[in-house]
Amino acid sequence: MKGIVLAGGNGTRLQPLTLVGSKQLAPVYDKPMVYYPLSVLMLAGIDEVLLITRPAEIELFRRLFGCGGRLGMRIDYAGQEEPRGIADAFRIGADHIAGEDCALVLGDNLFHGAELPAVLRKSARELRGCVLFGQQVAEPQRFGVAEVDSKGRLLSIEEKPERPRSHLAIPGLYFFDGTVTDIARALRPSARGELEITDVLRAYLAQGRADLVRLGAGVTWLDVGTHESLLDAGRFVRDVQRRQGTHPGCVEEVALRMGFISADACYALGAEMGDSPYGQYVMERARAHRPAPAPAVFPEE
Ligand code: TTP
Repeated sequence: MKGIVLAGGNGTRLQPLTLVGSKQLAPVYDKPMVYYPLSVLMLAGIDEVLLITRPAEIELFRRLFGCGGRLGMRIDYAGQEEPRGIADAFRIGADHIAGEDCALVLGDNLFHGAELPAVLRKSARELRGCVLFGQQVAEPQRFGVAEVDSKGRLLSIEEKPERPRSHLAIPGLYFFDGTVTDIARALRPSARGELEITDVLRAYLAQGRADLVRLGAGVTWLDVGTHESLLDAGRFVRDVQRRQGTHPGCVEEVALRMGFISADACYALGAEMGDSPYGQYVMERARAHRPAPAPAVFPEE
């Protein structure tokens, strides 16, 4: 399965922070925001990723991840000149997808939770068209909203409805089969002038090939669009790290856990940042992952 991180957009609600830089490079506690969505794709087992950003910022992202080789991955970059809509990702990424299954994550979405890796892997394995996720939220009006029947089957999808039919918001993470590029190619811009992801999801729904997977209370989902939510996300990450000792969005650790890199390679990545608590954590995870040395065997006398 291929992956796309969509990390363009103008980030107007985060100005002036975003006047001179990308929103998805803004710090969420100890790491750039984009680490979090990238790590989610990696947890789904994806090691080939296209990162889409504003053209002027490609080089900054490349400075972070290079060609992805250090994480045992392949990471390519593409520019989106204007925010033409989320579904534009499938037009820009058509060659990258190349008819394979693909996962799209928005560059400002964070997910965390022990049950997340299993949910992602199952969704990827059982994909039969598209998978979108749903999570209960207090204010569904701010999101895409899913309506489901009593058996949890998807009935309808609405974008930021004034009168939502449910409290199930749709996070910025989706799995699609390879036909998504054809569906995106046929899209027309909406009234607000964007290629809408909800129109892609509706096309799958009309074909009877859209499944909704609920993210339970064990998974935290945050989307970062405002100064308040940026601060909230940073506090959330700090609290998890402090209390549980686990580090959400640590791409080096995920690369190690997924078998993309060896413990030695992981340790070397941590050592490069060894003066920081982040680097220390990466080194510590690498040490914990190394097989214990075989016990010394003494010949019997
Ligand atoms: P939005 O929150 O809709 O847009 P934004 O991040 O530019 O913020 P603002 O509304 O304050 O201007 O986008 C959600 C995510 O999708 C975000 O990571 C940016 C990304 N995106 C693109 O990369 N290209 C696009 O064309 C759109 C619409 C969004």
